[in-house]
Order: sequence, then C-alpha cells, then structure tokens
Amino acid sequence: MGVKIIGTGSYVPEKVMTNADLMKLVDTSDEWIITRTGINERRIASEEQATSDLAYPAAVRALEAANINAEELDGIIMATVTPDQPLPSTACLLQKRLKNTKAFCFDLQAACTGMLYAVEVAHSMIQSNKKYNKILVVAAEKLSYITDWSDRNTCVLFGDGAGALVLERTESEDDSILATSLHADGSFADILKVEAGGSRIPMTAELIGSGRNCIKMDGREVFKLAISAMEDSCREVMNENGVTSSDIDWLVPHQANLRIMNMVAQRLKIDSERVYVNVNRYGNTSAATIGICLDEMIRGGMIQRGQIVLMTAFGGGLTWGSILLRY
Ligand code: UT7
Repeated sequence: MGVKIIGTGSYVPEKVMTNADLMKLVDTSDEWIITRTGINERRIASEEQATSDLAYPAAVRALEAANINAEELDGIIMATVTPDQPLPSTACLLQKRLKNTKAFCFDLQAACTGMLYAVEVAHSMIQSNKKYNKILVVAAEKLSYITDWSDRNTCVLFGDGAGALVLERTESEDDSILATSLHADGSFADILKVEAGGSRIPMTAELIGSGRNCIKMDGREVFKLAISAMEDSCREVMNENGVTSSDIDWLVPHQANLRIMNMVAQRLKIDSERVYVNVNRYGNTSAATIGICLDEMIRGGMIQRGQIVLMTAFGGGLTWGSILLRY
C-alpha cells in the first residue's frame, strides 16, 4: 500500500501589511526588508480571527479538492505554535467546525518545521494501522499575535496564514512519500523563542507589554545554521532515494528568507526556476509556509502528478527536516 496527497487547500487573511506600513511602526525601510529578506508584504489576521479561523477555510478547500466529506477523516493533525487556547487542542476545535466526529485530533509543535513533522506522523500512522485511511494535516499560524511590533529585528519577517492537505491510503504500492529526514537540537532553544506565557514564566499583565511573550530571534545565527541544516537534510533524503539534483522537479523550501532559499538551492545545484518562492507575498508564516506553497503550486498546475518535489524547513527548537515527494 501507499499514501497519496489527494487534496490541498490554503488560506491567508485579507489584510495586507506592506513594508511601507511597517516603516510607520519601526525604523526600517522597504529597501532593507527587500534586500535582506525578499519580503514585500505579509497578511495579518483580524483581531477576531484565531488560528482555527485560518485553518478552517484551508481545511475546507483541501477537503473539496480531495472530493471527500469531513466525516470521512480518520485523523486531524494540526501543526501550530499559536493555538487558539492552551486547552483543548486547535485540532479539536477545527474538528468541531468541520462537524467530524470520528477523527483522532491533536496539535503538534515543531515551529517552522511543523508541516513536515505532521506529514511524517500522518504518513507513518496510515502505513502502520489499517484503521487510518484519510488524515487531514493542517499547519496554521497567527504569528502576528506573538510578534513584537516594536522590534524591527523580527516584526518585518512574519505573517499569518494556513495550509492543509489530505493524505489517503492507496491500494497501489506506489508511495508518494519517498524519504523523510527530521531533526532537532534543543541545545539551541534560546536562539529562536517565545520565552514567556507558559508554565516557566506564566503570563502576567506586565509581561504583555515587555515583549517577552513575543518571538525573539538571533537572526544571524539562525541564518547560518539554517542553510547547512537544510542542505544536509535535503542530501539525506536524496541519497536515501538515489535521487540527484537534476531529478528534482521542484524545491519547496520553508519561506523565511529569499537569501536562505537561494543559498540552499545553489548548494544543491537546483536552478532558481525550480525553486518555489512566495515569501515576497506572505513573509514567514512558520509551519504554514510549505502548505501554502504546495496548494498554490498544485492549484496553479505547476506540480504535476509523478513529479519529484523536495520540501525542506528549519525553525525554532531548533527543528529541521526534509521530505522527498513523488506527487
Ligand atoms: O522561520 C525560522 C527560521 N528563521 C529564519 O530563517 C530567519 C533567519 N535570519 C534571517 O533571515 C536574517 O538574519 C534577518 C533577516 C533576520 C536579518 O538579516 P541579516 O542580514 O542577518 O541582518 P543582521 O541581523 O545582521 O542586521 C544587520 C543590521 C543591523 O544593524 P547594525 O548592527 O549592523 O548596525 C540591524 O540592527 O541591520 C539592522 N536591522 C535592520 N535595519 C533596518 C535589523 N533589522 C532591521 C530592519 N530594518 N527591519
């Protein structure tokens, strides 16, 4: 038996925040943001929209594309660092909106690598247990809620959005997931973090204004580590499958910084026409980036059945990994 992606969906909020808008908040420039990151604009959720409100339309679109009812789902896995609330999981809240009653539901936190972790978990569950035929994987983030809008080092980078896909067991031997490599190194926990708001430093009124409940990042250090880690994990899945750079139809990297994506592609000898980029339109939406990319590419007819897609991500944890896919 194999596992296939049978539908994808995505959603980004309507509100566009441009670099010019950010120049009104912090000491920055359109030129700095574009040359250092490749970002022109990002989407920002409204105050009323929580993460599950971004996840829901993405999930509905993925179910429509898969041509199945929500009731057919055996599982819902949600990758997010911005759950609606601490309890219950955002996956359970999404299940309720989808009116599904039989799926297992849980959230998974692997920061920007969340989508890849979630796909590997869903894939392994389908492969190892006949009870699971169809699993919805959603990655949704309302990063604007944990962004310090007075910190120019971070606030120009992030955006909100959601990506979703449905994985299904197939009778054919042909498995879409050709190889996966997932990694983490908690010794770098401090270089990309939201330190307050959990059980170690519980939320207080003073903390809200302090920025300690927001993303802090040593950008330069993350930048350096991200390039080598993504390159190495891409090589791992390529070697495991005997695939060379010229066999890769598409590289779909986590959308954090255009310079990082270009350097990874260069090192892997994948030319820029085969690298999908939308960071210019959405910024870094953490776990959601790869789901949004896949949906845009599949709907736009860029990814065709049978093509080889290499996905790679890197984020807080640190976590990183790659998945080699035959769509
Ligand atoms: O999704 C998880 C993974 N995250 C990433 O992969 C992000 C990785 N890091 C990056 O993408 C880049 O490091 C950043 C885009 C965050 C920063 O770019 P950089 O080229 O590494 O800049 P830098 O941090 O070395 O800062 C260079 C200068 C500094 O000024 P000084 O100290 O040289 O005077 C910063 O203060 O740029 C300054 N700076 C800014 N200037 C204008 C930092 N942010 C801004 C800003 N506007 N928004």
